[in-house]
Amino acid sequence: MDNILRIAIQKSGRLSEDSLKLIKECGIRFDNGAGKLKTSATNFPAEILFLRDDDIPGYVEDGVAHLGIVGENVSVESDRDVNTVHKLGFSKCRLSIGVLREHEYAGVQDLDGKSIATSYPKLLGKYLAENNVKAQIHEISGSVEIAPSIGLADAVCDIVSSGSTLLSNGLKEVETIFKSEAVMIASKHLTAGQQDLLDQLLFRIKSVQVAKN
Ligand code: PRP
Ligand code: ZN
Ligand code: MG
Repeated sequence: MDNILRIAIQKSGRLSEDSLKLIKECGIRFDNGAGKLKTSATNFPAEILFLRDDDIPGYVEDGVAHLGIVGENVSVESDRDVNTVHKLGFSKCRLSIGVLREHEYAGVQDLDGKSIATSYPKLLGKYLAENNVKAQIHEISGSVEIAPSIGLADAVCDIVSSGSTLLSNGLKEVETIFKSEAVMIASKHLTAGQQDLLDQLLFRIKSVQVAKN
């Protein structure tokens, strides 16, 4: 137990493919049969857990997983007590506010008194407070971009990558409130053996990153 690293990665979504690729590029081999939620590496003392990204910070805080690969947006929003040990340079995106394209927008004060749908209530709340804007935050867990067109909210605050989701929902991006990329997070309760494995893994990750630049 002491000498195994459990690494949580996203089961399916924007980070999944690059997370798996990074682990493979580090020379760690494993068999990931379709639909498997857990697999063991064959040449490194590691197990890989395939989870919903939003659940990963909590598992890492609890020490159920020792390491996790998640978007910084998810990690910061979760407010879990974990160490961010390395930025991974992929899955770059931003958390932005969007409004209907036909809506005139002069600046952040225009959001005063409005309602904003988001899956990121903490990050949005902080941004609004810093800008002295009082808006109503509507927390929804997915398909946030549909909210303005169905009259559920005046604006949205969600992740933008290519921008195509905003575009196809008749929205325009008006404020960027947080810039994000994939990060490696670690439990604060690693054993000495696990810390040593983490150091080995980070060394390999950094070598892979150097080789790419
Ligand atoms: C984000 C966001 C949009 C999409 C935007 O979802 O909620 O659905 O990405 O990307 P685009 O600008 O390229 O269209 P995310 O991948 O974070 O997945 P999740 O919200 O389901 O976890
Ligand atoms: Zn998610
Ligand atoms: Mg989403």
